[in-house]
Amino acid sequence: MKITFYGHATFGIEINGKHLLIDPFISGNPLASDIDISQLKADFILLTHAHQDHVLDVEIIAERTGATIISNYEIVLYYQAKNLKGFAINHGGTFKTDSFSVKYVNAVHTSSFADGTYGGQPGGFVISSKDKSLYIAGDTALTFDMKLIPMQTTLDAVILPIGDTFTMGIEDAISASDFVACNKVFGCHFNTFPPIKIDVKKAIHSFASREKELILLEIGASIDI
Ligand code: NI
Ligand code: MN
Repeated sequence: MKITFYGHATFGIEINGKHLLIDPFISGNPLASDIDISQLKADFILLTHAHQDHVLDVEIIAERTGATIISNYEIVLYYQAKNLKGFAINHGGTFKTDSFSVKYVNAVHTSSFADGTYGGQPGGFVISSKDKSLYIAGDTALTFDMKLIPMQTTLDAVILPIGDTFTMGIEDAISASDFVACNKVFGCHFNTFPPIKIDVKKAIHSFASREKELILLEIGASIDI
């Protein structure tokens, strides 16, 4: 499973030649100006919730690639009404293919489109391939529901928001890492806007002091887990 960071909460996940794009927000992110969205591959676009900093580039990428949008019922309906492909799941539900599965799990946050349309309840994803599993928390507060995940799935890595203000901050993300029983954490949702600016060195140190690894990929960088 190959993970590429495209800034903010946008990731590309490659599993057996299939490309999953998570929460595409690139054209609105000045930190991601080196990323050419016309080159991004996507067979599936996974959306955790409807906020603009997670869906801004969905339409342009889905139109070009023909990708299937996977998200909650309301978000998928919204895009199907624009003639894009979608597959709706809701909390507890799993989308399955031959090479991977995607389960929609709880998040504590809000979800509405920029035009005010209701965006269903926000979520996160547990993505499992034959040999690897990854939890993408989405925008969320720390929640006890995270403890359900390792009861069913042994995670190889997790993607957690760490920017505070709109989501968990560093200390809660460290607790989340305990809740999901995984010490390999990719941080996201930090430094894009002034309210979510963090001290990167201090964040890495805080995780390290609890024997945890906080990985903050450069925008455009990839890593295999
Ligand atoms: Ni949000
Ligand atoms: Mn957000």
